[in-house]
Amino acid sequence: MYKSQKVGAIIVAAGRGERMGGIDKIFTPLGGTSVLERVAAVFNDSPYIDHFVIVLTQDNLARGKHLLADKNLTKLVKIVPGGVRRQDSVEAGLNALPLCQWVVIHDGARPLVTSKLIAEVLEAAQESGAAIAAVPVVDTIKSAGEDNYVKSTLDRSHLWAVQTPQVFRFDIIKEGYAKASGDVTDDAALVEALGIRVKLYMGAYDNIKLTTPADLALAEVLCQRKEG
Ligand code: CTP
Ligand code: MG
Repeated sequence: MYKSQKVGAIIVAAGRGERMGGIDKIFTPLGGTSVLERVAAVFNDSPYIDHFVIVLTQDNLARGKHLLADKNLTKLVKIVPGGVRRQDSVEAGLNALPLCQWVVIHDGARPLVTSKLIAEVLEAAQESGAAIAAVPVVDTIKSAGEDNYVKSTLDRSHLWAVQTPQVFRFDIIKEGYAKASGDVTDDAALVEALGIRVKLYMGAYDNIKLTTPADLALAEVLCQRKEG
């Protein structure tokens, strides 16, 4: 039972934020508090998390450390530099984590995550050793060829949009990374490749990822609603 086991978390925030068009989303304030501080506080305050590491770009390391230094983040053990691909950043986080049996991986760009969702995904992972937050897709999804003509319309009833947190047993995610070949956009893909069953757990539509400037406006409203 994970309640007697150590749970570590990795917050990956070492992306370049290219689709944000020049705004550094990690340091952007929402309701007066930066995205990075918000997400760090959720993990620090979660009773299920024993310790966590944050992964930042080399360029942001000093600023991030300075920003978080006086925030009383007692479970934050290290801030480390990431890599070129998201999976390189996760790997840097895995290498920096102190001993733990479970790992929660979360996008720094999802500041609206809740302690409740972290706990629920952790619980959902107990059966197979892997669970990820996801929501059923709301848009119709089409597959297209290189020429942008539709090839097929996918059956939406089976499609989920993947979020984080993603939770894995430590030995499983370690093995996934040890055997990784090629590029993946989420860690679950590496675990699926091992033949491990990954449980989809109902995330939240407001657990948005800050990707484009429009997301910032939406996140601001969602934060106000949550705190108002
Ligand atoms: N990430 C990371 N290291 C990378 C790439 C991504 O730590 N080399 C992190 C991002 O900081 C973000 C999360 O992974 O918290 C999800 O990635 P994404 O939304 O794609 O963010 P960016 O890669 O920063 O944005 P973009 O793809 O627009 O450049
Ligand atoms: Mg990216």
